[in-house]
Amino acid sequence: MKRNVIIDCDPGIDDSLALMLALSMEELNVVGITVVCGNSPVHMGTGNTGKILRFMNRLDVPVFAGAEAPLKREFADALDTHGRDGLGESFLPEAEGFCPKTGAVDFLAKTLREKPCSVIALGPLTNLALLYEQDQEAFGQMEELVSMGGNFRSHGNCSPVAEYNYWADPDGAAKVYQAMEEIGKKITMVGLDVTREIVLTPDLLAYLRRLNPEVGGFVEKITKFYFDFHWRQEHLIGCVINDPLAVAYFADRSLCDGFDAYTQVATDGLSTGQTVVDSMGFYGKRANSLVLTRTDPVRFFTMFFGRILGTDEKSLDLIPRLVRRETL
Ligand code: RIB
Ligand code: CA
Repeated sequence: MKRNVIIDCDPGIDDSLALMLALSMEELNVVGITVVCGNSPVHMGTGNTGKILRFMNRLDVPVFAGAEAPLKREFADALDTHGRDGLGESFLPEAEGFCPKTGAVDFLAKTLREKPCSVIALGPLTNLALLYEQDQEAFGQMEELVSMGGNFRSHGNCSPVAEYNYWADPDGAAKVYQAMEEIGKKITMVGLDVTREIVLTPDLLAYLRRLNPEVGGFVEKITKFYFDFHWRQEHLIGCVINDPLAVAYFADRSLCDGFDAYTQVATDGLSTGQTVVDSMGFYGKRANSLVLTRTDPVRFFTMFFGRILGTDEKSLDLIPRLVRRETL
C-alpha cells in the first residue's frame, strides 16, 4: 500500500539521487518536498529540486522552501563538496515551469494534520525543529521520521565526531531528538555507520550508463564533482551517496538493522553535532531513536538501479561484482 511521505532535503548531489529514487518507487506517494538550508543555501537547493523534478518529469510535486539559516548557529554550506551550484557544477538550467512556494513548515503542519504521512529528512533538521516549535500536535502526527544524519561508531565527516546534517544545525537536531523523547516516539537515524557502505563506484556508474545512457549520463553529470571531492578528501575511488539509503530503507526495512537507544545531540564545544547514543542504557531513559548500524550495499544498489531504471532487479546480475566491499 502506498505510503504518503514528505521529503525534507538540501539538494545537494546525494539528495538529488534520493529524490530520483523516491519518485521512482511505487511504494511511496511523495506528497511534497520541503527544502532546508544545508549543502546549498535554501534558494539554490529549491532550484536544484526543480531541476531534478524536471529530469524526472514530475514538476507536479509541490515544493516549499524552508529555513534559510540554522536555529542558532551561523549557516555553513557544503558547496565545497557539492559544487558552486550545489549540483556538482553540472550548471543545469533552471527548470522551466517550476513554481516553488515558501512556507515549508506550514506545509508540513497542514499535511501532517490532514492525513497519515511520514517525513524522510535528508538535511539538517531545522525545518522539523521549527515545526515542533510552531505546531507540536502536527509534529506528533508524523507516522514516522527517518533522518539521514548522525553517527554511532563511525567517525564524523565535519569533525572527528560529527556528521554534517547534525553539525550544521546541532540545536535543530537536539530539539527534534528531545521532541521524539517527549512524544514517546523514535526517530530512525540513518547515520554514517550505514551510509558509508553505500559507495557509488566508477564501475557501478559505468554499468548504469551502459544500461541506460540517459539516466546514467545524468547521474554521471551531477556526481563527477563528488567523485573528485572524495578522491581529494579521502583518496576514495567512488563517492558515498548517503541520502538514497534513507529512502530505500523507508521502503524496505530489511535493508538495514540496528538497535533502539536514547540519543542526544551535543550543541556546543568540541563535540558540537555529535550524536551521543546511549547504547548501554547509562541514563536509564526510554529510547527516542532507532540507530541503524548494518546494511547490505549489494541489495541497496540492486534496488536503487532497478527503481531508477524501471527494470527487473533480477536482471542486474553484475552488481554483486561491482559493489565495493570494505567499509570506509
Ligand atoms: O553528512 C552527509 C549528509 O549531509 C547528506 O545528507 C548530505 O547531502 C549532506 O546533507
Ligand atoms: Ca542531504
